[in-house]
This record gives sequence, structure tokens and C-alpha cells, in this order.
Amino acid sequence: RAAGDPLITEIQDWNRYLGEGVDVAPYGKPSEFEAHVVRRSVPWLTADPVSSVNFTPLHELDGIITPNGLCFERHHGGTATIAPADHRLMIHGLVDTPLVFTMEDLKRFPRENRLYFLECAANGGMEWRGSQLNGCQYTHGMIHCVVYTGVPLRYLLEEAGVKTSGKWLLAEGADASAMTRSIPMEKALDDCLVAFKMNGEALRPEQGYPLRLCVPGWEGNMWVKWLRRLEVGDKPWAQREETSKYTDLLANGKARRHSWVMDVKSVITSPSPQAPVTHGKGPLVITGLAWSGSGTIKRVDVTIDGGRTWQTARIDGPSLPKALHRFYLDINWDGSELLLQSRAIDDQGLVQPTKNELRAARGENSIYHNNGIQTWHVNTDGVVENVEVS
Ligand code: MTE
Repeated sequence: RAAGDPLITEIQDWNRYLGEGVDVAPYGKPSEFEAHVVRRSVPWLTADPVSSVNFTPLHELDGIITPNGLCFERHHGGTATIAPADHRLMIHGLVDTPLVFTMEDLKRFPRENRLYFLECAANGGMEWRGSQLNGCQYTHGMIHCVVYTGVPLRYLLEEAGVKTSGKWLLAEGADASAMTRSIPMEKALDDCLVAFKMNGEALRPEQGYPLRLCVPGWEGNMWVKWLRRLEVGDKPWAQREETSKYTDLLANGKARRHSWVMDVKSVITSPSPQAPVTHGKGPLVITGLAWSGSGTIKRVDVTIDGGRTWQTARIDGPSLPKALHRFYLDINWDGSELLLQSRAIDDQGLVQPTKNELRAARGENSIYHNNGIQTWHVNTDGVVENVEVS
């Protein structure tokens, strides 16, 4: 700053006067200067706002935890309002003892804390045929990552006693959409959680208060919110959400189904269309997120020249399975045009594909499970646009 900057030489109001006391906001809120950091929807995307989606503002966030108030919302019948005292979870079907749990009952089981990402299978679906939405909030924002506190589903199933013929589980929500999905018993007994807390506090209503299912690493649609019923059966149920939706129409006319695992993926969150470079050339922090439904992220490569040359980014912060990872590449920008991309590799050796590789394998008709490499074009003024390189 130039000598004589009044912000240095003059006493400012916040220095001259006392600020507000405690208890002005018993439940704290972000600074008034952060009012633009909100979930946003794309009105033309869905027919009405009740069965709709809004998006996490990834371009404004850092680290790997999504604040509760910024977790994207996707619901098919609006947000159900359920008093915890009125909520019940029933387990029935191929079990020795059908059971009904109150919230109080559930809180008497041993519980665990786990950090997991939840990604909607439709994240990036609008980009399948070409770059469309100008911002990572919209292209990649159907994802959040929070610490869940809950009871391993295994404990509840053990309490009911699953019969040997019980190979599948149907999870059902108590909301107006009564969302129902089939889950293989192997996954249910592995790492699924019945969660009542997120980031330490009660689930938000939008996220399924008072109870939701966590199906780590698997598509968000299976994470049934307002969880009220678990039925044990011997085969999948073929519900709407696993037949006409959340299946992938391939080029040969057949549909891929049971594509549950979220693939290895990454995106540069800044610079990005909603986070342009405003400081001119010189030091530039390139940052983004990487994740895999199969495990941890081993490496993220970043290119600034559209894939001609790649550099290994620095992963900073915890590296936990089925959770977001934060990466950085600190460069000295010479002010010339950039074509930014990131490519994630997970601990199973899975490599994030290009969009063209995806289309070659799965055709042009897909919506779900788009984990293709994203390209951002940065012009000499620092303005960023969503593009594709062939
Ligand atoms: N569960 C119920 N009961 N009703 C719903 O509409 N939407 C599903 C899933 N669970 C849904 C639901 C979908 S499609 C997704 S992607 C995730 O919840 C979104 O979770 P979120 O709203 O916490 O981001």
C-alpha cells in the first residue's frame, strides 16, 4: 500500500467504538462480508424448487470440511419437518426379530465419528456433452464432506438378527418422496452409518434431521435422509431410483445399473469462473479438491497448459478414505493464458479420465457418474471460463 494509506494512518470506526457484546447472535453466523457465500440453484434445471437441487459454493471454501449451512441440498419431495420424539426407525423382513427404534434407543448404541464426502451421481451431469455451466459451484457443487456421528448400521442389523437368506437391504425415507434404495448386505455390514450428527451438531433439516443413512463412497442418492425403514430381503427391489433413474444409458442402448461407487475425481476450485485472478501476475495459489469412493487420493497432477506438461500438486491436510482431499499448486504466473486441469489418482491406482475417454467408453447419453477432467481457461486479465480441450 502507498504511504499515507488512511487505513493505516487514520483511526477506523472498528477501533474507535466498542463492538457488539456476546449473545447478540446465540447461534453464530458468518461475517456480513461473506453474505455472497451461499448455496445457489440453477432455476431452469428442474421443473420446480421442491424437487430440486442447489449447489455447494466450492470456489469460496478451503480445507476439506463443508460448513453445515453450505452443504448442497437435493431432495425430491421437499424438506420433511420431523420432531425427534416422533421419529421411528423400523427394521423388518428377513430378520429374527423385527424392531422399531426411537431416537433415544439409537443414541444408546456405541457410536463412531467418520469424515465422508457425499456426491450426487448427477454431479457434472449437465457437462456430459460439453462445457455448459460457468463455475465449479454448478459443475461440481453437488458434493459435501462432513464429520458424521452415528451408529454403525451393522449393530442395528445384529440386534435384529439377519437371516442367512438376507442379502439385500431396502432403505426408505419418511419424507413425501419416500425415497427407497436397495443396498447389498455386504456394504450395509461394512461401513454404513445411521447418523444423527454432522460436524458435531444435529443434522440440518435439509440433510435429513433427525436421522440419515451414510453409504460411504457410494452415490448420494443411496444416503437416504429422514431414514424410517430398513427391510431385509433376498434380492434388490428395482425401485424407481435404481431403474429409470440412477442408471446409465450406454451407446449400445443397454443401461448400466448398480453403478454405486463414486469414481476418482478432482476439480480446481480456484482460480475458476466464479473465482477469477484479480491480483495480476506473480505468485498464484492454484487449489482444488480430489476424492475417490474407493479409498484415499494418492496423487493429484495439475497442468497449466491444457495437458502438455503436468506437475504434482501438494496435498495438504488429512488424507482419509472416501473423504475430500485438498491440493495446492503454488506457481509464479507470468500473466499469459492458462488452461488449468487437475487429474486425481487414488490408492487403488484408478486414474481420473478425460471427458473424451469417458464418452468413448460410455457414449453420449449418460448423465450420472461424470468424473472427467475439468478444464478452466484463464485469460490474460485473469477472467476464467469453463472450456474443453480435445
Ligand atoms: N433421501 C430422501 N428421503 N429423500 C430425498 O429426496 N435425495 C437423495 C439422497 N437422500 C433424497 C434422499 C439424493 S438424490 C442425494 S444426492 C442426497 O440425498 C443429497 O443429500 P444432501 O441433501 O444432504 O446433500
